[in-house]
Parts: sequence; structure tokens; C-alpha cells
Amino acid sequence: RDAEGQANFDRVMADDSRIEPKDWMPAAYRKTLLRQISQHAHSEIIGMQPEANWISRAPSLKRKAILMAKVQDEAGHGLYLYSAAETLGQSRDEMMDALIAGKARYSSIFNYPARTWADMGAIGWMVDGAAICNQVPLCRASYGPYGRAMVRVCKEESFHQRQGFEILLELSHGTPEQKQMAQDAVNRWYAPALMMFGPPDDDSPNSKQSMAWNIKRFSNDELRNRFVGMMMEQVKVLELNLPDKDIRFNEDTKKWEHGPLDWDEFHEVLAGRGPCNSQRLERRREAHDDGAWVREAAAAYADKQQAKQSM
Ligand code: ACO
Repeated sequence: RDAEGQANFDRVMADDSRIEPKDWMPAAYRKTLLRQISQHAHSEIIGMQPEANWISRAPSLKRKAILMAKVQDEAGHGLYLYSAAETLGQSRDEMMDALIAGKARYSSIFNYPARTWADMGAIGWMVDGAAICNQVPLCRASYGPYGRAMVRVCKEESFHQRQGFEILLELSHGTPEQKQMAQDAVNRWYAPALMMFGPPDDDSPNSKQSMAWNIKRFSNDELRNRFVGMMMEQVKVLELNLPDKDIRFNEDTKKWEHGPLDWDEFHEVLAGRGPCNSQRLERRREAHDDGAWVREAAAAYADKQQAKQSM
């Protein structure tokens, strides 16, 4: 049966078609998907924190409502992704336990602080912009539940990106202080946003195999450069600057290239020593503990319903 399954898997890969949860798949393919999808889910859940922190301080009722909706969307993304990961055989409890025990990865970007209201603009424009750039190709990922989840996630991320852009646009056309606040936020989020795409290609152990399995469609550097090109166009409309004097358009490759990034900082953040790592995990643990009664109530209700049905 394994030989039959392997042959089907190879055919699906060659046809660039899809593997579904009940199909046979190599153990390493399952493991890679579980790793990536669970990390992605954790990122969405931890990613709620920097923005949730600003809901109560948003400058108007309208801004508050928009930000609240956005943060709720991120929770929804996390839940789709946990569901997609569960189809690979790990329970949500196991994934959540790994996250709160500090054993699971989530995106480096969410370990940076959101200092001012303009950070809500920079996060929407750059962080969600980078997420879209990375995730649109994932809509074609070879694992069905992941690819399908990405379609909806990307639609919502587009709205998030535009709301961030609009916050920055308004600030950059406001008072000189507001414009400075917008520029300062862009300056602080630029390099961390570029690092979201992962380490440079020659230091990315998983890329080659993930590309061979049609999970990743482009390398980390390819997507990072594409993102730099997108930002170069949009920053002109914002009348702001990207804090990178080395950005250039390479006439030979017809691609944008960015200046050097501090990869030591990236590895420090991944090792748990970024500016907000401990705060983010602490808050997640608190939220998990605070939600214990909801989980207990839901389980009791489910037991009651089951008992009724079997009567
Ligand atoms: N933050 C934290 N960890 C990272 C990051 C990052 N920005 N980039 C890479 N890593 C980790 C990888 O998870 C991997 O760790 P592991 O082997 O211990 O699991 C290691 O660094 C090496 O990197 P790669 O070999 O390049 O890993 P991979 O092929 O998985 O590529 C990438 C990383 C591009 C992030 C990929 O996993 C991906 O596309 N994930 C889906 C998108 C996603 O998770 N986005 C989250 C942020 S977007 C948002 O939530 C709004």
C-alpha cells in the first residue's frame, strides 16, 4: 500500500495537483507541513497582541472598530490554520501546549513592540503586506487544506494591508509631527518586515525540499525582493522613505535588491531573545489560563449533547 501511495504522491507532485488529508503521504512531507502550518497558526495568534494593545487607544470610534475587526480576523486565521494542521494528525491541544511551553516557533516580527499609533499603519502596510506577498503563492500549496485556507486569509490580509496604508497616508499628510511619527514607524518596522521572509536562501535549510514538494513556490530571497519592489512604488504615494540607502534595481536581473540586514538580530529573536519574546509568551499563557472556564464549559456542553443523543 505504501508503494501505491508513494506512486500516487509522486504523480500528484508531477502533475502539480493536490494531496488531501486521507491520501498517503511521506512522513517527512507530513512533518514539514505540520511544522510550517502550526508555526503559521501560532504567528496569527501571537500576532494579535501588538495591535490588540492599541484598540483602546485608537484615535476614533471608527478606527477602533476597524482595528478590532482586524485583530478578530487574525484570530480567525489562526483557527483555520490550526484546523488545517489537525488534519495532519496533531491535536490543537498539543500545538497550543508547545506554544505556551515556548517550544514552538512563531514569526519573528511579532516580537517587536508597537510604540505609537503610526505603528498600526506600518504593521498593516508592511507586516500584512509581507504576509500577502509570502502567502499568495501558498494558495497553490500542494496540501489541499493549507492552500484553501490561504485563499480566504489572503483576501482578509489585503484589507488589512490597505487599512494600514491608509493610516500612514493620513498621518503623512497631517501635521509635521504626524508625518514624522509615520516615518519613524516605517523606519522601525522595515528590517523586521524583510526578515519575515526567513533567512537568506543559502541559509534556509527547508526551502529546497519544500519547493520540490510544491509547498513553497518561491525562495525566501525571491519573495523578499519582490516585496521590496512593491514597497518602493507604494512609499512614493505615501511621500515617506524606506530606511535603506542601498536599495537598487538590478538592471541585469530586473529585480529590486535591498541593503544588508542584521541576521544576528534575526537569530537572537528566533532564540527567544528579541525585545518582546517573553512578554508575548507570558500574555499568551495568561490568555490560555483565563480561557480555561470556556474550554471546560464547551466540553461539558458537548458531553451533555452526546449523552442526550445516546439516550
Ligand atoms: N520567524 C520565525 N522563524 C522563522 C522565520 C521568521 N520570520 N523565518 C524562518 N524561520 C525559521 C523556520 O521556521 C525554520 O525553523 P525550524 O526549521 O526550526 O522550523 C528556520 O527558521 C529556517 O528557515 P527556512 O528553512 O527558510 O524555513 P521555511 O522553509 O519554513 O521558510 C517561512 C520560512 C518563509 C516563514 C515559511 O515557513 C512560510 O512561508 N510560512 C508560512 C507563512 C507564515 O508563517 N507567516 C507568518 C507570519 S505572517 C502573519 O502571521 C501575519
